[in-house]
Amino acid sequence: MEIQAAVVRSFDRPPRYEPYELPAPSDEDQAVVDVVAVGLHPRVRSGASGSHYTSTGKLPMIPGVDGVGRLADGRLIYFVADDDLAGPMATRTVVDLRRTVELPPGADVVKVAAAMNPAMSSWVALRRRVPIRPGQSVLILGATGNAGQMATQVARRLGAGHIVAAGRNESRLSGLGADIAVPLTEDALAEAASEVDLVIDYLWGKPAAAAMMAVLRARTDRSRELNWIQIGSVAGPTMELPSVALRSANFRLQGNGQGAVSTRGYLAELPSLIDEITSGGLTVDTHTAPLAEVESAWTQPEQPGARTVLVP
Ligand SMILES: NC(=O)c1ccc[n+]([C@@H]2O[C@H](COP(=O)([O-])OP(=O)(O)OC[C@H]3O[C@@H](n4cnc5c(N)ncnc54)[C@H](OP(=O)(O)O)[C@@H]3O)[C@@H](O)[C@H]2O)c1
Repeated sequence: MEIQAAVVRSFDRPPRYEPYELPAPSDEDQAVVDVVAVGLHPRVRSGASGSHYTSTGKLPMIPGVDGVGRLADGRLIYFVADDDLAGPMATRTVVDLRRTVELPPGADVVKVAAAMNPAMSSWVALRRRVPIRPGQSVLILGATGNAGQMATQVARRLGAGHIVAAGRNESRLSGLGADIAVPLTEDALAEAASEVDLVIDYLWGKPAAAAMMAVLRARTDRSRELNWIQIGSVAGPTMELPSVALRSANFRLQGNGQGAVSTRGYLAELPSLIDEITSGGLTVDTHTAPLAEVESAWTQPEQPGARTVLVP
């Protein structure tokens, strides 16, 4: 079947909107959907540039990690893309029905496409990786980004008692819904976050290493557990961490992402997160663009804090 799709033919160029021959479903677990909305997440960009750790290097490819589609019988679904099938940034694609969740009638499809990927990072981290206990205190590093904004709301919904939001852009720190918002300075973090139980880290690199040491040095009781969950690396792929960080405190460092939690674990969390998003428990800023304009949407700077959603 011929479709129109955002097609990546070279990892150093944005996708182009062009005709594409969509392979037919190969078994009864697969179905063709009309794509309704697809989020342009950082993870989608790293997949399309071949730099994500799951990248196979195969081209051409249609980018995307998830989306909202309509089945032939009219039902709206959220779907998680399967690396073995064509990607979601297309007028139509093939989905694995075991990776789909039906959306309630009237669901805001743009909101679902925008919010699921960034919200999933903290939702799965705080439910599967290090289950949060009611009243615990959480620091979010990189709180002004899309995933960071969602993490503040998710932590609150999952029972956090105190939330510290930290980001480099001070003008965007207010209005995030945290109990306190601080810049990424060692003094501010030592004062506001020394007693946190959990850290959701979207930064890594130098700012996260400095934050780790500042929090650990200022901790009143070093034997109290501190769970650091590494999720994104917008500030750098590596860090230099003094070994003393791991000896001088009850400090547990782990990550959350594809591989750290099984696909089955992720899929099991989809329905409850969709409920949160479609019932208004979580909010997200969105910016929509036609899929046919994918090339310009790809290269334009993101509106701060908003997630671009492509609509066929
Ligand atoms: N593992 C997972 O399951 C998972 C899921 C979703 C996202 N992620 C990852 O999480 C990260 C954040 O995603 P997102 O959706 O929030 O992206 P985003 O909306 O693009 O936000 C990125 C944020 O990072 C900030 N930032 C960029 N460079 C920085 C630096 N050098 N120091 C401090 N802050 C910096 C930006 O601040 P300004 O506002 O100042 O520019 C912005 O607030 C990405 O790496 C993404 O791939 C992982």
